[in-house]
Amino acid sequence: MNNISMDTRAAVEANNDFDTRFPAKEDLSLPYRQLFPLITKAANTPFHAMLPHRVKQNIVGVKHVLSRYLGERFQVLYAMKTNRSAALVKAAAEEGIGIDVSSLEEFQLALTQGVRGQDCSLSGPFKSVEFLTLALRQEARIVVDSDEELLQIQSLAVSIGKTARVLLRWNADQPYTRFGMNTDKLKAASLVADSLSNIELEGAGFHLSGYCPLERGKALSQLLDIADALRYGADIRWKAINIGGGYPLRYVEEATWRRFQNAIDKQDFVAGRMPKSFYPYWHPDTLETAVEKVLLESGNAERLRANNIELSVEPGRALTDGAGFTVFEVLGTKTTNAGDHCVVVKGLSFSFSETWFNSEFIVDPVHLPVSQEVIKPTNAVRAYIAGQSCLEEDVLTYRKVPFSQMPKAGDLLVFNNTAGYLMDLLETRFHGLPIPNKVVLDNKEDSFSIEEVRG
Ligand SMILES: Cc1ncc(COP(=O)(O)O)c(C=O)c1O
Repeated sequence: MNNISMDTRAAVEANNDFDTRFPAKEDLSLPYRQLFPLITKAANTPFHAMLPHRVKQNIVGVKHVLSRYLGERFQVLYAMKTNRSAALVKAAAEEGIGIDVSSLEEFQLALTQGVRGQDCSLSGPFKSVEFLTLALRQEARIVVDSDEELLQIQSLAVSIGKTARVLLRWNADQPYTRFGMNTDKLKAASLVADSLSNIELEGAGFHLSGYCPLERGKALSQLLDIADALRYGADIRWKAINIGGGYPLRYVEEATWRRFQNAIDKQDFVAGRMPKSFYPYWHPDTLETAVEKVLLESGNAERLRANNIELSVEPGRALTDGAGFTVFEVLGTKTTNAGDHCVVVKGLSFSFSETWFNSEFIVDPVHLPVSQEVIKPTNAVRAYIAGQSCLEEDVLTYRKVPFSQMPKAGDLLVFNNTAGYLMDLLETRFHGLPIPNKVVLDNKEDSFSIEEVRG
């Protein structure tokens, strides 16, 4: 069990300057280090630290921009697929926002954390009968993926005597997506929806991949054109448009990102396994400026206001910016036959999932040694980091991470800013290992609680 003490803290901080070539924008773990001995004893390692107060700050920020342009005609939804921590969902509930849910289980969690059913929005291609039934009873909004699904929902709604609040998902005429409908199908489905007895057509929505605000702004403008065409052509009036997620966040400072782009090379990766592309770990926009650009594009904000259409945004990753970090404990180190140093941690890379998407988290982990030995600069080393399983692919980072000294058994490695898709997306009980605990930390920095483990 790890025993990092306050005494080692100063030494550790001094070392970290030396360790990190690509440091995180902020070491989120710093205020909580004195709790680590207690946390590792109570929660074991690896553990995910959750910082729900940071989600609240992010919500306040995005609401501020939206209200400046739209008054009260907007809705923020947290896309729960990003991280299913109950503490984060509760933070969203306490800030009065809604939740984008993609399964019955996500929906149930939102309700138990205090989110109102009417503030939830269902997404996904075909939803289970149980999921839809709960949505109908709770009067949640359903984002309908296809005309086929629309008819299914109508017959379910008829059978239980409820009316479905519906948005139709538009695919922005992208040719190769399996989600949503193209413009022609969207218009046709709007006419059908308008004619169905148990469907209340509230509007339409889209979700685009990538992080470009201009693309989102143009898509919103096009969707407003479709709304106009339906209003003038068929007297169908939308009252809501959902523009999905895809808002950026900054994991590192701009200078670090530029340095990474210039300096990084195949040789920095084990067996030259450098990914073809990287997530934009720094982006010129923030959540707020991106939303503002979407609103300002082609007069979107004015058109929304003029037509009395409410705008929903459903950021995932960006709302979890700064809302968590993940701590692994070192089991040991070895030198492979190829001569690479490898740090093996307790737990699995499924709890830190970037490499499973042929990508790499470029932010260096912070190394917290257990021992108080004086560090000699000559001991600096580069090593990649692997999980404890028998899978060759169980690798947290193929990148040879710089360490001021080789980590030892019992040392901790802190990966910063992991709440967005890195923690629980792929977690499994492979080898019978437990699902890591989520430890909830608040801004008082003197206590913690452990969330109920959900698979
Ligand atoms: C429908 C929908 N909404 C919102 C999101 C959240 O996207 P992001 O985390 O990029 O903001 C996703 C992500 O896949 C999504 O599919």
